[in-house]
Amino acid sequence: MDGSGIRGLAIASQDAHAAFGGVVPEIAAREHLRSLDAMVRHAMREADVDHADITGVGVTAGPGLVGALLAGVNWAKAYAFARGLPLLGVHHMEGHLFGTALEHEDAHPPFIGLLVSGGHTLLLEARAWGRYRLLGGTRDDAAGEAFDKVARRLGLPYPGGPQIQRAAERSAVARSAAAGGQGAGGAPGRFRLPRPMLSRRDVRGDPAYYDMSFSGLKTAVARVAEQLEAEGALVEAVDDLAADFQEAVVDVLAEKTRRAVEQTGCRRVVLGGGVARNSRLREGLAERLGSSGELYAPSPRLATDNAAMIAAAARFRLARGERSPWSLNAEAALAFPGLA
Ligand code: KG4
Ligand code: ZN
Repeated sequence: MDGSGIRGLAIASQDAHAAFGGVVPEIAAREHLRSLDAMVRHAMREADVDHADITGVGVTAGPGLVGALLAGVNWAKAYAFARGLPLLGVHHMEGHLFGTALEHEDAHPPFIGLLVSGGHTLLLEARAWGRYRLLGGTRDDAAGEAFDKVARRLGLPYPGGPQIQRAAERSAVARSAAAGGQGAGGAPGRFRLPRPMLSRRDVRGDPAYYDMSFSGLKTAVARVAEQLEAEGALVEAVDDLAADFQEAVVDVLAEKTRRAVEQTGCRRVVLGGGVARNSRLREGLAERLGSSGELYAPSPRLATDNAAMIAAAARFRLARGERSPWSLNAEAALAFPGLA
């Protein structure tokens, strides 16, 4: 057991999707069904626990792909029912908040939560665990979705987030190599990309103050890529374009988060979701917050979807006496719990 209190954790990644350039729902559902038994056995062996030691079952009930969710929900219901255990359906994004808290004991409410994943982008104020106020969110693409789509446009493989980060790092290396030298290679801001929904004129109280939009940025990158392609210059420019795109996303997310800290007086910021793996995002957030906030970010293992964060959220709710009924269903668009 490490400092996170996790006794056993099994993670299966589904590589089969890469060949299709994105997640294929049918494959996802089938792979869940196929691997669940073995995964649970693996985690229990690692944790050195027996069935008799288990006191409750938590499972992701949504939001997400309903086929994959159903595989988990049905497995959890059957296991909990057969063993007479309490069952709890967890919201995937609330799980990401608990995931970060597993590794940082100071990451507790009140805090500002910035959740950035492939399907969701949320900025919220956590007043207590289970009591949240939604400040803003994306009006179109999620941050991770934008990374994936831009990567695809630039000819980089799926999932695009890590690829964009790597390309941006290559751009930075080229920039320092060319420092004092010649050529545009690695110049930050070489492409003037927009910062959607970010303006100094934004006023507090207007939903646009916290809301985000990444679809227009994605289109702007596509337009630049198209022009470069016509000039036969895209391949040479991919790293710089990826770097500028990443910088634009980080700029928007960091500034919206800084505003939330300033307006609520909440100093702690809890970052969660797959995009939290992005080191430039963590760096940019820390820079923007400066001494006015403390950033708590998950390690790569717990930033990516995992069962430990779901168990942590379930443990909190089960301890409060909450139970899900045996009729618990998977919900593709499950609402975030506890919103004031
Ligand atoms: O939370 P997550 O593992 O799954 C969902 O709940 O969606 O997030 C996956 C997302 C993908 O869009 C992926 O491209 C993105 O996280 N991601 C990254 C990085 N690593 C993963 N985005 C930017 N930079 C990264 N290093
Ligand atoms: Zn996730």
